[in-house]
Amino acid sequence: MPEAGRGLTMDGGIRPGSTLAQSVSRSPDTPDVASRADLEALPKAELHLHLRGAMPLSYLRTKFRKYPPGRAIESARPRLRDRMLSQAGIRRILSSANPSREAHRLFAYSSFDGFLASYLFTGYFVREAEDLRELVSTVRQTLREQHVTYAEITVSVPEYIMHGIPLDEIMAVLAEEPDGSPTVRWIVDLVRDFGPDACEELLERVLALRPPSLVGLTLGGREHVHPPAPFRRVYEIAREGGLRTTVHAGEGRGPESVWDAVRILEVERIGHGVRAVEDPSLVRFLAEHRIPLEVCPTSNVRTAIYASIEAHPVRMLFEAGVPLSISTDDPSFFGVSLAEELAGLRRVGFSWSEIGDLAHGAFGMAFDPLAAAAQDP
Ligand code: ADE
Ligand code: ZN
Repeated sequence: MPEAGRGLTMDGGIRPGSTLAQSVSRSPDTPDVASRADLEALPKAELHLHLRGAMPLSYLRTKFRKYPPGRAIESARPRLRDRMLSQAGIRRILSSANPSREAHRLFAYSSFDGFLASYLFTGYFVREAEDLRELVSTVRQTLREQHVTYAEITVSVPEYIMHGIPLDEIMAVLAEEPDGSPTVRWIVDLVRDFGPDACEELLERVLALRPPSLVGLTLGGREHVHPPAPFRRVYEIAREGGLRTTVHAGEGRGPESVWDAVRILEVERIGHGVRAVEDPSLVRFLAEHRIPLEVCPTSNVRTAIYASIEAHPVRMLFEAGVPLSISTDDPSFFGVSLAEELAGLRRVGFSWSEIGDLAHGAFGMAFDPLAAAAQDP
């Protein structure tokens, strides 16, 4: 279980009726935020950001010339090809005489499965270590421009292997730590669709080659098809190997998945976790045990988990005292920056000061304690 009593008040629980806003104390370094422009300039932390989810269109267009899309997905296993072809935007790209012109259609979908099909498709355009290095460098540059000074970036390792990059070359790219902002730490996504046995086997290999910058484990992919419970051993191995842990849960499935994430996988944070709101006892548990949710409101709207930002439970979770960090998940797919994501919280009743507290608080929820230093670069 998560460390007992972590972050609790003196009497071992959160005060009745207390809210996170009430329980977060404003330290001298808590920023004053009064506008969207303040948020743009503020040093920020992204704790839930997929590397390919931040792939700019310009990268994709360039790679469409190197790897013509029709040929690139010829190598796909039939089931994966069917998943991709179910997405109208991908069909348009594949049938076009000028795929680069249609590349933006990848980011139009109407369901969680449609989004995941697009995400899967982008993997076919990162096929050599040099592509991966270029993508990392582009994403770093974008984060720097947005004043994101600390980022835990999720990297879907088995998909890069599937597309032909050997694991040792992937790890070598992740080991490179260029000077300057942002400080990047890596979270390996074993992609739950590969199943627990393959995830275990790959994790052992990752741990044997692990660079110091790789700090955590998650599982992305189709939670509604692959719930958390069978991955218990994967998480035990990760902890034994010194990785910090999170998992996508309570996004594609309901609260039962979040319960399994905390009770069976014993994760320290939850990716999304927002559907926990459907079970008040779970909300209390998350608040009492100080288990942070990595909340990505725009992602949840764009993948049709919620109909609108106004219908999103982020405010309810906040008022119930659940620790929250705000992230973008897949900013290129959802057309949002972290500053925009934070500013969007105004629409569900957050004050600027509460938004500033959330931005500040994310540094304290990072898996690398050195994140604190990145807050004041
Ligand atoms: N992979 C990339 N983004 C994801 C998400 N939001 N959920 C599950 N898997 C993902
Ligand atoms: Zn995610």
